[in-house]
Amino acid sequence: MEAQKMEETWKAVDEYFEEKLETTDDTMEHILKETDDAGMRHIEVSKAHGKMLYLMAKMVDAKSILEIGTLGGFSTVWLARALPEGGRMATIEADPNHAEVARRNIASADLPGSVDVIEGQALDRLPKLMERGYSRFDLIFIDADKENNTEYLKWALKFSNKGSVIIVDNVVRQGRIIDDTEEKAVPYIRQMFDMLERDDRIETTAIQTVGQKGYDGFLMGVVK
Ligand code: SAH
Ligand code: DHB
Ligand code: MG
Repeated sequence: MEAQKMEETWKAVDEYFEEKLETTDDTMEHILKETDDAGMRHIEVSKAHGKMLYLMAKMVDAKSILEIGTLGGFSTVWLARALPEGGRMATIEADPNHAEVARRNIASADLPGSVDVIEGQALDRLPKLMERGYSRFDLIFIDADKENNTEYLKWALKFSNKGSVIIVDNVVRQGRIIDDTEEKAVPYIRQMFDMLERDDRIETTAIQTVGQKGYDGFLMGVVK
């Protein structure tokens, strides 16, 4: 199949899943529309991927969740839906406009726990999470500036218990992860893989994905 036809097929299959598996609903569609209306780039996870994050949080019965990179709160709301009553989520966002849109979207989502949208550069905010009463997270989703992934992974490990799940988005970049490429982020993503090659605190795998968001992939691990 030629490349363009492939991409059309990936999208159509995601739409088929949407219909059959309820990988979207009014709340999530509202969030996507608000993100659109705010003129933000559509770089949130795909619908099926969003629901997968929710299911993963359920699998580990997550009571506390950390996200780095909020955008309009699309992945945030999927993850927060898995929390029990009284569960807590923190999500860190550098762009004040994104944080504002996300706060509105989160407020409209009728969630069981609390979601704290923390505005600022993640590397400034992460060391201060303790002061806000956070100590450990059951699930951590890393999805901000890819250049800092290695540092974010180190923080994620600090904030983990045995069994905590760490997920990192966008580790394939249409295969550019293994190519000589102009893309600025790629050497930094590789640096994170180099760290994982030597680190024995976490067991990891990475999965390549196709769909509404083209060809990319995510890394996931469970802390030992
Ligand atoms: N997780 C979202 C998408 C996040 S897009 C979803 O799937 O729905 C990446 C976000 O990270 C953008 O909103 C961007 O503003 C934010 N970001 C970029 N650099 C950052 C940094 N240094 N600290 C915190 N957030 C950052
Ligand atoms: C980009 C960031 C993301 O988190 C994503 O899912 C896709 C693209 C980006 O910065 O280009
Ligand atoms: Mg992403």
